Amino acid sequence: MQIAAVAAVIVFVFRDLAKPMQKREVPFISVSRKIVGCVVQAMNIKDNDMVYELGCGDCRVLAAAYNQNPMAKYIGIEKNTIPFLLSKWRLRKILKPDSVDLLKKDMFDCNLSEATIVYAYLYPHIMDKLLPKLKQELKPGAKLVSCDFIFKEKEFNEIIDLKRPGKSLGKKLYVYRF
Ligand SMILES: C[S@@+](CC[C@H](N)C(=O)[O-])C[C@H]1O[C@@H](n2cnc3c(N)ncnc32)[C@H](O)[C@@H]1O
Repeated sequence: MQIAAVAAVIVFVFRDLAKPMQKREVPFISVSRKIVGCVVQAMNIKDNDMVYELGCGDCRVLAAAYNQNPMAKYIGIEKNTIPFLLSKWRLRKILKPDSVDLLKKDMFDCNLSEATIVYAYLYPHIMDKLLPKLKQELKPGAKLVSCDFIFKEKEFNEIIDLKRPGKSLGKKLYVYRF
């Protein structure tokens, strides 16, 4: 019985991990802890901001952002089970649970029109697929911070070099205005 339960968990975990590779989706790779503070700084969150993280992974960025400004509102969207559960665990100590919402959904099925700030760490092909939706739904003036990856068809407003020579990821932040 126990062996069957362990086997079921292993199958479930591997299926969840293999999904991104099959569908050319974005795998669950958290942004380096060393640059989380820089991401939060780049977002420059004010009390009345509504911050969305698209594909929030283990929610380390959203949790750090909340700790920096608990007055703003936060929504993390994550469609894969393992990172979603890790996010739930990370957010268990949030003092104002109404301030942070975690949605187990596909970001393409979520309306983003309330967002004033969006953070994304996604692959270029997903960024490009997302762009029409962002253009259609985001309010004028909404800001998007992307780690490492740019839109092919939209100019960034600012580039922040994180000065990490020798690293292949977590090197630059791109700030976009819509
Ligand atoms: C590269 S990880 C980034 C995680 C986190 N944002 C960070 O910076 O640490 C991308 C995340 O997006 C999630 N993801 C990929 N496609 C998604 C989709 N269509 N809807 C929601 N989440 C998605 C993946 O499961 C993964 O957790």
